[in-house]
Amino acid sequence: MSDNPTQNKAETGRESRLVKVWDLPTRVFHWSLVSMVFIGIITGYIAPEWWMGLHVWAGYITVTLLVFRLVWGMFGSEYARLETFTFSPVHILEHMKEIISLRPVRHYIGHNPSGAVMIFALLFVLSVITVSGLLVLGGEENQGPLAGAASYAISEIAAPIHNIFVIILIAMIVMHVSGVILEGKLTGENLVSSMFTGLKRVPKGTPPLVHRRARPFAAFLVTATFFAIGGSLLAAFATMPPSGLRHLPANETYETECGDCHAAFHPSLLPAKSWADMMATLDDHFGEDASLDAETANEIALYLAEYAGEEWDTEAANRFRVLDPKHPMQITATPYWVRKHDEIDPETFKRKGIGVKSNCSGCHTDHYSGRFDDQKIKIPEVKVK
Ligand code: HEC
Ligand code: HEC
Repeated sequence: MSDNPTQNKAETGRESRLVKVWDLPTRVFHWSLVSMVFIGIITGYIAPEWWMGLHVWAGYITVTLLVFRLVWGMFGSEYARLETFTFSPVHILEHMKEIISLRPVRHYIGHNPSGAVMIFALLFVLSVITVSGLLVLGGEENQGPLAGAASYAISEIAAPIHNIFVIILIAMIVMHVSGVILEGKLTGENLVSSMFTGLKRVPKGTPPLVHRRARPFAAFLVTATFFAIGGSLLAAFATMPPSGLRHLPANETYETECGDCHAAFHPSLLPAKSWADMMATLDDHFGEDASLDAETANEIALYLAEYAGEEWDTEAANRFRVLDPKHPMQITATPYWVRKHDEIDPETFKRKGIGVKSNCSGCHTDHYSGRFDDQKIKIPEVKVK
């Protein structure tokens, strides 16, 4: 029964001694969460967009960890239980004052009041981040379990929330780490190593600890039930077809006539007015004569009008609707296109397999669907002979 410090022989109350405070699941939870948040922040801010898959997985695992922690907060061993670190506001304020005034602080075996506030706040902030992340994934990228339920408009609300809460999260991490360092200085305790070993030193005179044991089986049952219910709900949502995407029937005339000099563009990439103007001026099409007989032109014009940008709710369709007034027929002139591709070296567009910047299919392997997923970007490498 090494888990139970009351059975420890050193539990005499006369010497400072080490007691087991953090059980293994709590420690594994803590460091897994640290890793997931780290991966989430790195892949969110720095890594190229096609790392999106990893970012999303870090999010899914974070949700799993949060659920587990709440359950373990009910069934874990003594100091993992949420009730052992629910303090009154007065108590919390007192502790914060102690820390700020750098007075030697009272010793807490489990979480101290400020740390406890931090944990509840972290759980809240992480929940907001993961839920808003799922909404962005569903609404903007048409991916994940909410692809059918979340519209682009919802993702436009969720995206700034996601970003702001990540900044709040980073600020909290900075506070949490400074708190741990400060508390360590004040009490001489190394809280980081106790999060690895689970052991904390309690001062002389601490009475023997009442230590409730974990109930892993109950925890497992509740977690499993939660995931069975939550999982089937999400699975039900996931069967809804992605809300922003339509089925685009192939049109041979369009593909032959407009796929001759360049790959035929997905009709969702420009609004109806741009397509109509383009079809009316084919004799002078970017300096080329692309004119067609009236019947063919009419068929293509109807097809483009029916599947123009307004008819889709993808990120690309929503974004490319904002045109450059000087070049209203050019996808590659839209502010969004320019912004998204401004870090690409102009030489890259000349590579074999691309040729010109308007050859979307050179880098976007899913261009035919109109999705333009981050994970489907593959820039061809230069072949060195
Ligand atoms: C005779 C060759 C030719 C044909 C046929 C042709 N195009 Fe083009 N198209 C061009 C050239 C050249 C450009 C300008 C260079 C570029 O952007 O690739 C261009 C550019 C475009 C662009 C703008 C791409 C950007 O930079 O954002 C669109 C959209 C477009 N064409 C649509 C069409 C459609 C629709 C048809 C069929 C009705 C068509 N093209 C047929 C040669 C052609
Ligand atoms: C040289 C390769 C290349 C070509 C050609 C190219 N793109 Fe991209 N595109 C990229 C890269 C790389 C990104 C990601 C940039 C970033 O945000 O870091 C991107 C991003 C995008 C995005 C945003 C995706 C998202 O979810 O954030 C859209 C939409 C897009 N491109 C559309 C187009 C269209 C339409 C064309 C053709 C007119 C095109 N691209 C041509 C490489 C290319």
